[in-house]
Amino acid sequence: MQSRVALVTGGTGGIGTSIIKRLASMGHKVATNYRDESRAKAWQEKMKAEGIEVTMAKGDVTSADEAQAMVREIENRLGPIEILVNNAGITRDTTFHKMKPEQWNDVICTNLNSVYNVTRPVIEAMRERKWGRIIQISSINGLKGQYGQANYAAAKAGMHGFTISLARENAKLGITVNTISPGYVATDMVMAVPEEVRAKIAADIPTGRLGRPDEIAYAVAFLVDEEASWITGSNLDINGGHHMGW
Ligand code: CAA
Ligand code: NAP
Repeated sequence: MQSRVALVTGGTGGIGTSIIKRLASMGHKVATNYRDESRAKAWQEKMKAEGIEVTMAKGDVTSADEAQAMVREIENRLGPIEILVNNAGITRDTTFHKMKPEQWNDVICTNLNSVYNVTRPVIEAMRERKWGRIIQISSINGLKGQYGQANYAAAKAGMHGFTISLARENAKLGITVNTISPGYVATDMVMAVPEEVRAKIAADIPTGRLGRPDEIAYAVAFLVDEEASWITGSNLDINGGHHMGW
């Protein structure tokens, strides 16, 4: 398999770390962003101890300027980005009638505007080289909605609108663009949900358990494969049967 340059935003988080590990195990050169230098260094050392070399560039994905600088830094160090996983995300859960403007804006900027900010400086080199893999990490809640998540569901649904348009624009250039919509995965993000609410959600999942980050990383590995060249504009649901449709 050809070694590619991969950028995973939010690579230091629960799902991001698994994606980084999986892509590295496939022989790809992996990179991610960070915001807090000392936390980033500790995470990078941990990866190193596991034999994984991760290139790290400072950058807040809500800022177009920072995202561009981060992409350029990674390109200078590793070469053009060939695989992009837009994974950075946050929640600010509250019912809509109580939602403050910053709770709306923070979630839209981090989950949706970030996709513009990071993909825009990456796409031109992919188009020139006629090869690319772009994956949005959306959510089950962008498909079905969730009590307390009008902001998050709007952003996550928006990500797939982006996917299907970008997929059309770049289909003839060897670039695939897809969405993965995970269900509830045991990371800090889900552990922040009040325990009694979480227990009710888990009880509703047909497999009877939360997902594991490596189960999402497996889908990323599938979509970035050279052989996945005719899969574009698709959404892959991975949720233990929590939401089924066709
Ligand atoms: N369906 C129906 N009613 C619900 C409900 C639900 N899912 N969740 C809460 N309610 C009801 C409560 O039973 C309560 O009813 P009563 O007033 O009749 O007792 C009422 O809503 C409480 O409403 P409030 O406006 O007072 O809400 P709150 O301030 O207590 O907090 C909440 C509500 C923040 C939404 C809280 O329930 C919560 O955190 N829910 C979890 C939301 C969630 O799933 N977040 C996912 C985070 S992880 C993630 O996002 C990853 C991913 O992609 C899957
Ligand atoms: P997580 O553990 O909280 O990790 C989130 C990552 O995003 C962290 O690395 C965080 O970096 C980064 N990040 C947040 N805001 C950022 C910003 N402004 N700029 C740069 N990086 C930023 O969350 P997770 O559970 O792994 O979630 C990863 C993605 O999967 C998110 O998009 C989430 O919405 C989605 N998702 C998660 C679940 C789930 O059940 N866990 C389900 C469906 C979808 P810092 O350390 O700097 O904050």
